Amino acid sequence: MQCLRIFSVRVALALWGWCALQASAAVEAPTADGLALYQANCAACHEGKVPRAPHMITFSMLGAEAVLSAMNEGVMRAQASGLTPAERQVLASFLAGAPAEPAAPVVSCQSPLAAVADEDPAAMQGWGGDLRNRRSVAAASTGLTTDNVGALSLKWVFAFPGALRARSQPLVHDDVVFVGSQSGEVYALDLETGCAHWTYSAGAEVRSSLSIGTLPGRENPVVFMGDFSATVHAVDALTGSLVWRSPIGDHPDATITGSLKVHEGKLFVPLSSSEWATAADPGYACCTFQGGVVALDAVSGNLIWRSHVIDTPAAETGQTNPHGAPRKGPAGAPVWNSPTIDAARGVLYVGTGEAYTSPAADTSDAVLAFSLATGERQWSKQLLGGDAWNMACFIGEAANCPEEDGPDLDIGASTILWSDADRDYLLVGQKSGDVYALDPDNGGAVIWHNKVGRGGFSGGVHWGMSANQQSLFVPIADTTFTGRFKGEVFPGVHALDPASGARQWYTPSPGDCEGKPAPECDRGMSAPATSTEDLVFAGSFDGNLNVYDGRSGEMLWQFDTFGRFQSVSGEMAQGGSIEADGPVLYKGHVLVNSGYQFGGRMPGNALMVFAVPAGADLALETTHD
Ligand code: HEC
Repeated sequence: MQCLRIFSVRVALALWGWCALQASAAVEAPTADGLALYQANCAACHEGKVPRAPHMITFSMLGAEAVLSAMNEGVMRAQASGLTPAERQVLASFLAGAPAEPAAPVVSCQSPLAAVADEDPAAMQGWGGDLRNRRSVAAASTGLTTDNVGALSLKWVFAFPGALRARSQPLVHDDVVFVGSQSGEVYALDLETGCAHWTYSAGAEVRSSLSIGTLPGRENPVVFMGDFSATVHAVDALTGSLVWRSPIGDHPDATITGSLKVHEGKLFVPLSSSEWATAADPGYACCTFQGGVVALDAVSGNLIWRSHVIDTPAAETGQTNPHGAPRKGPAGAPVWNSPTIDAARGVLYVGTGEAYTSPAADTSDAVLAFSLATGERQWSKQLLGGDAWNMACFIGEAANCPEEDGPDLDIGASTILWSDADRDYLLVGQKSGDVYALDPDNGGAVIWHNKVGRGGFSGGVHWGMSANQQSLFVPIADTTFTGRFKGEVFPGVHALDPASGARQWYTPSPGDCEGKPAPECDRGMSAPATSTEDLVFAGSFDGNLNVYDGRSGEMLWQFDTFGRFQSVSGEMAQGGSIEADGPVLYKGHVLVNSGYQFGGRMPGNALMVFAVPAGADLALETTHD
């Protein structure tokens, strides 16, 4: 059916409308029942065959609205492209176990937000905490020390309505928590009580963390974010009203999942895609996404430059797949980490993922440096060649699986720009479990290399590391989930000397899976860590948030976020795995998201806020670097 492919191509939005009309005209006839639709269209992947695909039981938690939106405008739009709107409705209600209904409301604050300060020296900036992505905050600004951290207790829990995952790392600025969600709602929550000052609807999932900045001529600061449909939004931080929005994808499957950076009036945005999943359709002419980074004018949202990871646009190779679909390439190498800004050298760095087609482009699984001013690529350092993979490799006859068939060992974690008295180092962690220091002055030449994990599907190093002045803290996942990767595993936190790569300590993750679902529960640590001079905060798949002494690796405090918690709105929040984003530290508070159903992990929808009780020894200063 012609409409089939057009449905998954967002470029043809006008045609989409036409197809939708055609389809709805056709469904006056009785629809097949939900189970039959599920078995014919979805079960092949969702019954455990594709590890990333959530199991059917998790759909009831997600709710019909969210299942529907996954099919209409989310990750499943290609998979559901052959279904009529009425069939999708039936399927969504069947999978959710209840008809679609609006998500539960959030609690609005009683009194309006009076102002949001332009500057907040205590705030961690965006995903990486600073432009260098160190994810390290001065103890003086967090007020958290080895002495008082044991007194942390749960202050409030926010339940993201209609969500199976909580993965937009909160941004706390001037006592307001700005956070995105799976449903596409973006919230400004009061740090004291969790009530919502405003809600903004992005229209598609916001996975990244928000960033804040000021614009000339505007009274209030502005929060910036990217969404799953590759649109960047600028929203007034005080009112939640739209300033501008700018679609930046140049491919129908383009997405933004990594957090953007704000620097000198520009936004630097990483581009990823869901074409790796579309490739599972044997009739799809795989693949054409080129990966990239985009620079926008922060005032207008206008494009300043666009640079691709793979320069050569994809073309037909002359071959066809076993289903007769033309093969295209080269493609792939998504960027799903937040760029690292090197202001002194005038460049930014990103890590890239695997290639989608064979042979793998030489910029896949690489670190790339782009000029901040022009976007011109300065250098590329590939850390693993020949890694071509997409979701077709998981299923059936795998018509679009590249011949390399993996191993899929992206550089998904943001690189960290770290300096000692002698020089600068670009610290890189890979899903393979390899950690590198690259030389930013010498084309990314390797200064040191240390393999600290076995690596695998969720890493090795998955989402991020943290570095203070003494140590590089490396969370390692090393799950045994797919059985595809073999060898001894080292899940937990590893501390390395950032200048030499030598190990300082390793604290294995204790694992806490009793009474929790198997195999979703695992002791691996894939979420990014956060540190101060003295402390390391890191969460694990089993739902535990751990705090370590940064010098010894001794565990000082632990909280199990798995389970059901009373939320601010009165609804129960579900805590699950800690994944994809990491702890945020702010004036005696620790914020962490819990719940992540991808990768077969424990779903949930909880944003948890902990605080050191009033009266605890909290020595706050308002300066940090
Ligand atoms: C070719 C394999 C495949 C098929 C067929 C498939 N799915 Fe999925 N599904 C996945 C994967 C993989 C994910 C996780 C996507 C990701 O990691 O981004 C997923 C995720 C989802 C999610 C969660 C979306 C989200 O945003 O969290 C829903 C809901 C879903 N699928 C519903 C369906 C329905 C309904 C069907 C049938 C119409 C279907 N899927 C068919 C592989 C598949």
